[in-house]
Amino acid sequence: MNIKDQPIQFNCTVLRDGHQSLAATRMTTEQMLPVAPLLDEAGFSGLETWGGATIDSCLRFLGENPFDRLRKLKEVAPKTPHLMLLRGQNIVQYTSFPDDVVEAFVRCTAEAGCDIFRIFDALNDPENLRTAIAAVRACGKHARGEICYTTSPVHTLERFVEFGCKLAEMGCHSLAIKDMSGIITPYMAASLVRELTKQTGLPVTLHSHDTAGLAAASYIAATDAGALAVETSIAPFANGTAQPDTVRMLALLEGNPRRPTHFNLDLLQQIREKLEKVYAELSEFTSPANERNDPDILAFQIPGGMLSNFRTQLRELKMEDRTEEVMREVPVVREALGWIPLVTPTSQIVGTQAMLNVKFGRWKNFAPAAMDIALGKYGKTPGPIDPEVKKLAIKNSKQEPIDCRPADLLEPRMEKIRAELAAAGLPTTDEACVLYAMFPQQTVAWYKGERPAPSPPKDKPKPKLEGARKIKVSVGDRSLTAIVEEVP
Ligand code: CO
Repeated sequence: MNIKDQPIQFNCTVLRDGHQSLAATRMTTEQMLPVAPLLDEAGFSGLETWGGATIDSCLRFLGENPFDRLRKLKEVAPKTPHLMLLRGQNIVQYTSFPDDVVEAFVRCTAEAGCDIFRIFDALNDPENLRTAIAAVRACGKHARGEICYTTSPVHTLERFVEFGCKLAEMGCHSLAIKDMSGIITPYMAASLVRELTKQTGLPVTLHSHDTAGLAAASYIAATDAGALAVETSIAPFANGTAQPDTVRMLALLEGNPRRPTHFNLDLLQQIREKLEKVYAELSEFTSPANERNDPDILAFQIPGGMLSNFRTQLRELKMEDRTEEVMREVPVVREALGWIPLVTPTSQIVGTQAMLNVKFGRWKNFAPAAMDIALGKYGKTPGPIDPEVKKLAIKNSKQEPIDCRPADLLEPRMEKIRAELAAAGLPTTDEACVLYAMFPQQTVAWYKGERPAPSPPKDKPKPKLEGARKIKVSVGDRSLTAIVEEVP
């Protein structure tokens, strides 16, 4: 049957993107477990429950083993396919990992209960996705190739479709438009869904964020254009910087021939009531700024997470009066670095460089991670790197640029890690090894039974940017602490 003759499917993101976007990824497994069985019965075609920043958050803040979380959720919600967000060769970190680590990670994740892997690369470089796609296929699981949506002179409809065709050729079972900034407009969404479906023959899902208030309208347009699915969350972990609320979306589709009619509205209401309590429990991590629509996103074309970060960071550096200048510098940095999309980790790198450019003069202080992009170490950028900036990166870093797949330069690492863990008297399972590869300190601490301290009691003043991560940026003889937030 033609997709257009079927009801539009909804995948629920509340257990991953919903709380990553609105509550700093702090929902615990304990808070999820009463909700998950209800989500399993409500009518969703998929439940996004894992990946993105959740693995880091489990280990760093919640004292949880992320694989245990996935197993538990799968056990209480066995009927609906589970989705995870995988950053291609970066897995769920910020740099490339050797193929054997990526493959082992995918195997462990598939065994723990993941059915659909949303695989993306911050640069939309197909080479960074090749190993992950093949590994997912080898496990007999569904590989969904994600196209990071952004706007720039090199991001044309043709280029996105070309990338979609490449993903199809590489073995993806379906495609998705991943609009992490929430900037896709309804007519663009419709054109992309239509062209991608036509040219690749694969079903297309639209994943957006309601940050600028566009997502719900774009979902309707995508529905009419023949998308397979859209991704919704459940209030209060919905709308604002997260996905549109499911009940709102159902109401917006009233009268549309593709409106799903099988959703259990009573159950959705019960879920919402439970989630209201969880949202209140997480109040120290939520913020009104994330709950509302922000037109600045459209003015500056940068993701919401990055924008809220910027404001805080600039305040801390006493540069508030230069916010506008820094925002205007973002496209300058993006252009010089080949018009890379802004999603974790490139959003942090570009943001930090824009700030440094404004504070110290353009490229006077070149952040090491930005130099790595200029040297090709993150992969092939969508547009060319500014030759002057590249020269400067070579000179400052005393390194040569690369044009191969970054992971081609990496030696296999699994057996080395296994030996290290064995020497430390720790478990040597593949799960332990892949977690250790990405989060060595936190993984060792977890296996030794050292749990992170519980968050401060509610009556204490709210810690600044509790959900964000601090990175040190060395600037000559001084170092700046850049505060970064993951862009989901
Ligand atoms: Co997202």
